[in-house]
Amino acid sequence: MNASIAVLEGDGIGPEIVAETLKVLDAVAERYGHRFTYRRTPFGAGAYFSCGAAFPAESKAVCDTADAILKGPAGVALEEMRAIPVDQRPELAILELRQRYNTFANYRPVVLPGRLAGLSPLRPEVIGDGVDILMIRELVGGIYFGEKVEREHTAGRYASDDCRYSREQVEQVAEVAFREAHTRSCHLTVVHKANILATSRLWEEVVEQVAERHSDVDYSFILVDNAAFQLAADPAQFNGVMLLENMQGDILSDQAGGIVGSLGLMCSASVGPEQSYYEAVHGSAPDIAGRGVANPFSLIGSAALMLEKSFGLGDEAAAVWRALWSALEGGRVTADLASKNGSTPLSTAAFGDEVAARARQEGYVEQ
Ligand code: IPM
Ligand code: MN
Repeated sequence: MNASIAVLEGDGIGPEIVAETLKVLDAVAERYGHRFTYRRTPFGAGAYFSCGAAFPAESKAVCDTADAILKGPAGVALEEMRAIPVDQRPELAILELRQRYNTFANYRPVVLPGRLAGLSPLRPEVIGDGVDILMIRELVGGIYFGEKVEREHTAGRYASDDCRYSREQVEQVAEVAFREAHTRSCHLTVVHKANILATSRLWEEVVEQVAERHSDVDYSFILVDNAAFQLAADPAQFNGVMLLENMQGDILSDQAGGIVGSLGLMCSASVGPEQSYYEAVHGSAPDIAGRGVANPFSLIGSAALMLEKSFGLGDEAAAVWRALWSALEGGRVTADLASKNGSTPLSTAAFGDEVAARARQEGYVEQ
């Protein structure tokens, strides 16, 4: 197939991990006879400094007409961020991107095969046969998108953030979670804080209605604070699907990165009705940018999700996953993971080469 991909390199380690991801996509294109055209376009702090907007109009036009969007992390160190007006900060550009394409379903797979238990800071017996959770985070509602107030009040400075959900917003993402649960042992855990939050009570109510259409899915609710504890104590109990609202999903997916051993293993797909975009769960890590030590796994895995979800290329996606996991199992890892299993660290580019070689040729072994 021919596909055009909008490529937003972003800031910090963005260009480095994007370069490795394109290498792997090229390997897939070569092996399976596809043509991917990359349309690079600015996004993030660098875009603000060079074009005056973090998500410039030209980038919107490229994203609107591409078949999918591959996005590197955006953002700069705190001191540099102060030079950017609040309404032009990269984080807001990310929210704009999500809203523009209504990417309400954010898939964040949390995977650590039992054979790689040593990468987790948890004891191998806690990881057991492995962790395989699909976190589905609602991405265009809740406190992120509610009204924000910052003002002076007689009693002093005052601020508020409004958390809102409509029935439709909950229903559409719950439907996705139940559907995904069918292919994942029919086990779904719904995270909430209904003992306190009205929005969580709405989630409970709507989820129960959606559940009636999926009687084979075994689902249960868990309070978000308890979910944080249970994830650290026994993550595999959640194997299957977890459904989370926007902010709770943001927090627990970073915790999941800690459990599998590195945020560098956390991939994501943000899926909307007509356009979807793919990015790593982590940020732009300005502290390690340009040193060739970043782990590109997160974005390469996100590209595998793109192959599957935007292009319907399931075999190609599976080949990329096999390439990624077999590299790790062969002790081929970047610095974030090397310290955990005593391997010699590979540079970002060497890891990308390794995965690309494995994706190009099944059963590839390094000479
Ligand atoms: C994420 C990030 C973003 C979020 C930030 C950068 C706006 O932390 O994708 O998890 O909070 O959603
Ligand atoms: Mn986050």
